[in-house]
Amino acid sequence: MSKKRLSVVVTRRLPDPVETRLSELFDVTLREDDTPMTKSELVAAMKSSDVLVPTLTDEIDAGMIAQAGDRLKLIANYGAGVDHIDVATARQHGVLVSNTPGVLTDDTADMTMALILAVTRRMPEGMAIMQKNEWTGWSPTALLGGRVSGRRLGILGMGRIGQAVARRAAVFGMQVHYHNRRRLHPEIEQGLEATYWESLDQMVARMDVMSINCPHTPSTFHLMNARRLKLMKPEAVVVNTSRGEVIDENALTRMLRAGEIKGAGLDVYEHGTDINPRLRELDNVVLLPHMGSATEEGRLEMGEKVIINIKTFDDGHRPPDQVVPSML
Ligand code: DGY
Repeated sequence: MSKKRLSVVVTRRLPDPVETRLSELFDVTLREDDTPMTKSELVAAMKSSDVLVPTLTDEIDAGMIAQAGDRLKLIANYGAGVDHIDVATARQHGVLVSNTPGVLTDDTADMTMALILAVTRRMPEGMAIMQKNEWTGWSPTALLGGRVSGRRLGILGMGRIGQAVARRAAVFGMQVHYHNRRRLHPEIEQGLEATYWESLDQMVARMDVMSINCPHTPSTFHLMNARRLKLMKPEAVVVNTSRGEVIDENALTRMLRAGEIKGAGLDVYEHGTDINPRLRELDNVVLLPHMGSATEEGRLEMGEKVIINIKTFDDGHRPPDQVVPSML
């Protein structure tokens, strides 16, 4: 007798090849339209399936996990960040959580460099002039930005993505500095030619560019708060391709408006799509709609990871990308 197929609910539209493969392997319910599920739809999905495949737009809190009943066995997140899932409560209820690390590292690091370059070289201002057809020709003094080569880059969070940013920044001639929960192994640190700062305050005060690359956890929430942002040099810029909650967005907006920080490149926001309207009015910021990992290749590889995690679980083993609370 053939084994009963796992029932899997996917909360958002995924790339076609990923949905096709999931359907071949499991008893899958796919989403018809690409809107996030409501809370009650999510709870119903968790109640009726063995595996839920959510994304970062699905907030899965303790109460929802408690209501899910005991059918749900695995939350196989389509994405690396799991700050939208109460992993500890899931564990208490015997629900495993997995994610998709590694496959979005290069894409996110590329976007971090793009933001550093766009902000320091004033690209949005140049684009606005061209789009408004206001260009009157080359000028020796127009739109002068800063040279990235020789600048000090402070990376907050030296995991996979932070290290990939460090490698790229070094090629651009930047001096790489970092702060991390744990100092890197000396060999890795030397390979990256990166300088470790135990004190985040001291690092922040000396950098020309700050790049946020740590995950959002209770201990990184508002790590860049008003007090720390004030330590930045007025000519420094900050970029964030990680999670908006790491920066106090209102404090950053105030300081950008007051010229106390030179510029910002943001791909993520503290309250999701509810962005501080004053940020949009500034010409010293580059705002992107959370597209750091948005490549076709990356999104397919994320799907492959989800499938491997579910398949491995189905075969009676731990998913290779299982996330446990002690990792957070
Ligand atoms: C993730 O996977 O957590 C990323 O933020 C998606 O871009």
